[in-house]
Amino acid sequence: MTVYIFASRKYSAPSPITSVGLQIDRQYDLTLYVTGAAFILAQLVLGYAILRFRDRGQQAHFTHGSTVAEVLWTSVIIISFLGLGIAGSKTWGEMRFTPASRDSVQVEVTTTQFVYTFRYPGADGKFGRLDASLVNAPAGNPLGLDPNDATGRDDVVVPILTVPVNHPVELLLRSQDVIHNFFVRELRLQQDAVPGMMIPIHFTADRIGRYEIVCTQLCGLGHYKMHSFMDVVSERDYERFLKKQGPPQ
Ligand code: CUA
Repeated sequence: MTVYIFASRKYSAPSPITSVGLQIDRQYDLTLYVTGAAFILAQLVLGYAILRFRDRGQQAHFTHGSTVAEVLWTSVIIISFLGLGIAGSKTWGEMRFTPASRDSVQVEVTTTQFVYTFRYPGADGKFGRLDASLVNAPAGNPLGLDPNDATGRDDVVVPILTVPVNHPVELLLRSQDVIHNFFVRELRLQQDAVPGMMIPIHFTADRIGRYEIVCTQLCGLGHYKMHSFMDVVSERDYERFLKKQGPPQ
């Protein structure tokens, strides 16, 4: 039954929209094949042992085991784990250690109980100064933008993330209260947003569409409904979006 659940792909995630996502799926499959084979083999050996050494009224006898066998299977496990780790390290490095490319679209993501707020730096390419004491969502300033800072006047603040297709995107994750999370299944990307930290993540989406963003950290009573959307649009639609949201010129 376990093999069927995995092999039938009935419950698999939607297909990824990044090349890194494809690599992650391949790595996941590889891990499943290796651990799946070990699992089936172990069950067969267990079944054989139960049958072969079942109680037939014979005398039980003690055995010290075999050092050779112990060294052998421990080595096999070490090699499998290290091998899988090495096989996946390139993808992990690409995601987590390689900085975003210089031409990335930067978007700041602020999480708070229980909403996401996205901020674009506007035409000047600079995010305006934030002041925690000015945070006032009912008055239309959920991020606490300082009105005296000129670089912030053209900042675009929206509840839904819009990014251009086939263009690198860098997100800067923040939190105003507790630990939240940014997770998009199709990106195969999941990252916590931690108060007091600015955590960068990056990706390049290659398929136009609307994808759900969900919070995967239990962040309070409203956690279950904390979500937003990511619209991946053409470069032209992206420019149109920025123009529409930005201040009149
Ligand atoms: Cu925010 Cu769960």
